[in-house]
Amino acid sequence: MYGVILLLVLAMVVAACSSSDDDGKSADAGSKKGDGGKNQVEIFSWWTGAGEEDGLLALIDKFQEENPDLKVKNAAVAGGAGTNAKAVLATRMQGNDPPSTFQVHGGEELNKSWVAADKMEPLDDLYKENDWMDKFPKDLIDLVSNDGKIYSVPVDIHRGNVIFYNKKVFEENGIDVPKTFDEFVTAADKLKKAGVTPLAMGDKESWTATMIFENVLLAELGPDDYIKLFKGDIAFDDKRVVESAKKFGKLLDYINDDHASRNWQDSAQLVANGDAAMLNMGDWAKGYFVNDLKLKTNKDFGYFAFPGTEGNFSIITDTFGLPKGIDNPDEVKKFLTFLGSTEAQDIFNPLKGSIPARVDADESKYDEYGKDTMADFKEASLVPSLAHGSAASEGFLTKANQAVNIFVTQKDVDTLIQSLKNAAPEM
Ligand code: BGC
Repeated sequence: MYGVILLLVLAMVVAACSSSDDDGKSADAGSKKGDGGKNQVEIFSWWTGAGEEDGLLALIDKFQEENPDLKVKNAAVAGGAGTNAKAVLATRMQGNDPPSTFQVHGGEELNKSWVAADKMEPLDDLYKENDWMDKFPKDLIDLVSNDGKIYSVPVDIHRGNVIFYNKKVFEENGIDVPKTFDEFVTAADKLKKAGVTPLAMGDKESWTATMIFENVLLAELGPDDYIKLFKGDIAFDDKRVVESAKKFGKLLDYINDDHASRNWQDSAQLVANGDAAMLNMGDWAKGYFVNDLKLKTNKDFGYFAFPGTEGNFSIITDTFGLPKGIDNPDEVKKFLTFLGSTEAQDIFNPLKGSIPARVDADESKYDEYGKDTMADFKEASLVPSLAHGSAASEGFLTKANQAVNIFVTQKDVDTLIQSLKNAAPEM
């Protein structure tokens, strides 16, 4: 509930923000009743612009082709990780004007914000009709379930604990892939001396810094205790959390000076053009590198697990559900059925940089990165991402992002720990 209230406050801040995408096309979200009548399916997401929208547009095209009688309205609101979209969505949901379906991360973002507020229809029947129960990994179904009912359909699985690096920069500077924090620091010092920014960051939207912090936490705590931390079973003043804050501070010594004016795409460009060596980003960055910047996987850029997190998989899953109170549930179920098909998942994910949520997708459609990630996903310990809404409520995440944002400029460990402790009851 706190999450919803906070989102509402945030919504007021961005209320003036019209929902237009990067190309300036008005997405028109919020100006009409969301479902827009029987023959229209309105898809609400934050997939706009470079690296984000290719997959969505390909999905929409295919769905349109198969359902010529239905009109699809793309109601995307720009802003990485849903920075603006989540607030616009909160306003619409509170005003009983839900979109036909909307992007929501599996885990607490779905459960604590929308299921807890009784805004979502269960989808167990849809899963049964489509014979999906063994087509999605059980852990993933659990992430989109609450009190034994399933509430959304996952379209992808992104990984958050990856570092992408510029291969040429590594080669030219004699850098080996660092596996530990100390190895990372040694490599970063060498790069810095050579005049290369070791780590690209673009925290114009602060979630990108929160991602780095959560990966340091994962490395320090290990997967079980990382999960316990966000369940409230380990305190934020635990010495390993304090150590994580210190290490996070150390990593910030290696970022680009203009980090605060860049978004995630802008920071990825620094690695693409060789001004920076590494980037910790979800693998939507892979989609951006390959599809937008035309870089080649394992030739122009490589990838490795965030130091200390090998064998773990920080999971970010984009899912879509069925809001209560819309006029066209049958049409929306058609779209959700499509979204859950191997056909749709294999159109979307190779473009998006993610792997399919389904276990029976066609591996040949994915590049080496995709294949490696699918293999890792099967073996790894899965942990929910904080920065992308799965580990804790929106209320906590908003405060964590604010605390991290302050830390990036002040680097005060005690203040960060105290802010997280204060926010913990909202998890
Ligand atoms: C979403 C991704 C998206 C990324 C950047 C994440 O929260 O899960 O689909 O590409 O944000 O906007």
